[in-house]
Amino acid sequence: MKILAIETSCDETAAAVVEDGTKVLSNIIASQADLHAITGGVVPEVAAREHIKALPFVYKQALIDANCDWSDIDAIAATETPGLISSLLIGIQTARMLATIHKKQYIPVNHIDGHIYSNWLGRNKADFKFPLITLTVSGGHNSLFLLKSPTEKIELGHTQDDAAGEAFDKVAKMLGLPYPGGPEVAKLAVQGDKHRFKLPISELNEPFNFSFSGLKTSVLYLIRDLGELDQQAKADLAASFEYTVAQTLAQKLIKAAVQYDAKQVHLAGGVSANLILREEIAVELKKHELDIPLFFPTSLKYCTDNAAMIGAAADVFLA
Ligand code: KG4
Ligand code: ZN
Repeated sequence: MKILAIETSCDETAAAVVEDGTKVLSNIIASQADLHAITGGVVPEVAAREHIKALPFVYKQALIDANCDWSDIDAIAATETPGLISSLLIGIQTARMLATIHKKQYIPVNHIDGHIYSNWLGRNKADFKFPLITLTVSGGHNSLFLLKSPTEKIELGHTQDDAAGEAFDKVAKMLGLPYPGGPEVAKLAVQGDKHRFKLPISELNEPFNFSFSGLKTSVLYLIRDLGELDQQAKADLAASFEYTVAQTLAQKLIKAAVQYDAKQVHLAGGVSANLILREEIAVELKKHELDIPLFFPTSLKYCTDNAAMIGAAADVFLA
């Protein structure tokens, strides 16, 4: 089963061909990041206009790279929600039109499901043992899921305010770093002392919900109180912030793994590229004497928004 998948929920125009939900035959991503760096964030109207320009080239290139023509494609999938509606519409309408013209099944996909099943890419379906817990951490969303089987999914919690990636982007802005801020904060943090600033880990009534707005405000007040920041203070702040976010996420993920007797823990979404987060999860697993594997996407390209993950999710729900 070969699926042509399209993703346009935010600022990446992406198309991919995925076979059997795991094999990536092509994965094209036209990023608008340089354009949005000028404004320090995504301007929806600008993003939508870029999708209109790029998408015809992107999906054609996905077919060429996969060595496919329309007769090889079994179904067409697109991200339907959540995301910027003006951006989503470009992908949805294009995918539906192509499905009608070429007489293929159209599969609507939830973007967060895409991140969940991004861990299927480059692996064998037999590699997965259930129940498993997936933490999705991105710029627009931040959730914890229990998967009892590939298709039986229960949301255990989500962010009550900012997503972790959004907090990274905002703290980057406060430190004068460019958009997208996550990788920039991570780069700066390498030279910093993560123990210099004690930042708060939010305590919530819902044990598996997240909140990062308090942490973000703490960083803002620290910067205000410290006055002029030298390069070392900026690096220490970046490291302390990154460490606090990583601890918060890792503690909730492993708490859920213990409670639900998980056989594996999965990490997905843009922030799953963060090495300190991966390290902290390993630390928490050890602390709880849990001998279960941590899976994260097999390529960095599958962490941030891409269309291959939409193809993987479409395959799960079609099967
Ligand atoms: O999944 P994604 O591409 O888009 C959404 O669906 O939101 O995630 C993008 C987010 C951005 O906030 C970006 O700053 C963050 O992921 N990010 C990172 C890293 N790489 C990307 N955050 C922390 N460390 C990273 N290495
Ligand atoms: Zn995403």
